[in-house]
Amino acid sequence: MAKIGLAQPFLKWVGGKRQILEEIRKYVPKRFNIYYEPFVGGGAVLFDLQPQKAVINDVNCELINTYVVIRDAVDEVLRDLSKHQNEKEYFYTVRALDRTQMFKELTPVERASRLIFLNRTCYNGLFRVNSQGQFNVPFGDYKNPAIVNESVIRAVHQYLASNDVKILYGDFVDAVASATQGDFVYFDPPYDPLSDTASFTGYTLSGFSKTEQMRLRETMDCLTKRGCYVLLSNSATDFIKDLYSGYKMVIVEAARAINSNASKRGKIDELLVMNYGF
Ligand SMILES: C[S@@+](CC[C@H](N)C(=O)[O-])C[C@H]1O[C@@H](n2cnc3c(N)ncnc32)[C@H](O)[C@@H]1O
Repeated sequence: MAKIGLAQPFLKWVGGKRQILEEIRKYVPKRFNIYYEPFVGGGAVLFDLQPQKAVINDVNCELINTYVVIRDAVDEVLRDLSKHQNEKEYFYTVRALDRTQMFKELTPVERASRLIFLNRTCYNGLFRVNSQGQFNVPFGDYKNPAIVNESVIRAVHQYLASNDVKILYGDFVDAVASATQGDFVYFDPPYDPLSDTASFTGYTLSGFSKTEQMRLRETMDCLTKRGCYVLLSNSATDFIKDLYSGYKMVIVEAARAINSNASKRGKIDELLVMNYGF
């Protein structure tokens, strides 16, 4: 089936892979059965490959709800999105919903619409929650943010609805439980921080510690034994390079747009690790 050109990330997500898609493409196996992406985030690689059979997953339930709603109720979410206003007071009212009992009463469509609205209008366009799981990014004050990106959302719907794409919410280990020989797993976990003060791990309540990175390496070993192709990206830190010694590695340059310290934005090395030749 031909690729749907406009199907691309509809959210801005920390660690988005758009800048290194060309590099990643070079290392994707020529043939594989089912595509697994257990840390799907904004889905840049998923939409680039547009596999006909895929399993996507994330531990962020608001994000996963948004994918499900775009697949199953695209007209409703587009309609709901059009009600939002790019105004400071309105933004903070919508942001505060997850601090009240009312949040439980929102429909899945309203929750998806809220996430897209906040992502489009908040500062730097990202999804960050505090230790209580509450969205805490300030208002972005952008002139004309595209809150309703209808053509992209419809294209994403078309891709998700016309292919065999399972959308899961949970931990990465459970997401790959059904992967077997000939399947291709792409892992894009939260980055190992470049320094102890760097906090790229604020995606979820739990964060992603060195112990989690080690659990991921064990999962990669297990999938390797099962005969799956596994590709993984992470920061090129000494810890990650040591962790994956024994696997093939290539270093690519990535521009990381999201860094709270503007002077540190720019090109930094990213590591691709794989368990197959190329
Ligand atoms: C680097 S981002 C993925 C970026 C994505 N590939 C893109 O291109 O936008 C990492 C994702 O892992 C998710 N995550 C963190 N811990 C997880 C876990 N234990 N299991 C599954 N997903 C997890 C986060 O919610 C986040 O969306």
